[in-house]
Amino acid sequence: MRQKGNKTDAIVQADQVSRSFGSIVALEHVSLSIPSGRIFGLLGPSGSGKTTLIRLAAGALSPDSGTIRVLGQIMPNRETTAHIGYMTQAAALYPDLSLRENLNFFGALYDVPTGELRARIEEITSEVGLFDRLDSQLQTFSGGMRQRASLACALLHRPELLILDEPTVGLDPVLRRSFWQRFRELADQGRTLIVSSHIMDEADRCDELAFLRDGRLLATGSPDALRAQTGCQDLEDAFLALADALTTAPSGERR
Ligand SMILES: Nc1ncnc2c1ncn2[C@@H]1O[C@H](COP(=O)(O)OP(=O)(O)OP(=O)(O)O)[C@@H](O)[C@H]1O
Ligand SMILES: [Mg+2]
Repeated sequence: MRQKGNKTDAIVQADQVSRSFGSIVALEHVSLSIPSGRIFGLLGPSGSGKTTLIRLAAGALSPDSGTIRVLGQIMPNRETTAHIGYMTQAAALYPDLSLRENLNFFGALYDVPTGELRARIEEITSEVGLFDRLDSQLQTFSGGMRQRASLACALLHRPELLILDEPTVGLDPVLRRSFWQRFRELADQGRTLIVSSHIMDEADRCDELAFLRDGRLLATGSPDALRAQTGCQDLEDAFLALADALTTAPSGERR
């Protein structure tokens, strides 16, 4: 099932998703719906389950229970993966290969037609400002250049869903702003972006948010809706108010 770019369609639907690693409960009964054509922010502190949820949506991990659907298909699903661009938290590029070689590898992985690949590689590296470094090895890149290279790899096959795990971490303010401008342009073109962050000032750049803590979903909604719900102007305060409410809930409701 393909989405039509209608902003009300859910492109990702998680129903009661749980996932543990041994005795560690990384996600517990998470249900959420991510509309297409928006920037959806996953916010939460370290260890709250952001990457686990992202890996489930990208089909890189299976849930222990519950289901996660992307474009209507239960993940993991090989065919749906072709519609997803996934930028992992840890650099996933080959340091001893050039940027062009890395992009060629991703092009083959995502079945970009050979006849289009060269032009597409040149276009995407121009967009992220790395065209003149196409033939340099990744290990010669600065941190910000590596992140731009990772973004280029995730965008190469023009996916309708982009899943970006802390894409702006460690970027200088100018580069961070240009990443967010790019994310907004992509959403305006009808793509859906899931962006994880633990930086609350990035939360305001998202259309919709999910607050996660200890593997549980605290709340979802637009930044303004979460402000209204908590009576807090600052989203960091809103997060803390929601986390406190969960901790002090009567027994039976607390985690
Ligand atoms: N492969 C794994 N093996 C064991 N434990 C894991 C694994 N992946 C995640 N966990 C645990 O699951 C919990 C959630 O981890 P996750 O990586 O999803 O958090 P996160 O919100 O992405 O954190 P961060 O902001 O630090 O990236 C943590 O307690 C983590 O130690
Ligand atoms: Mg993470």
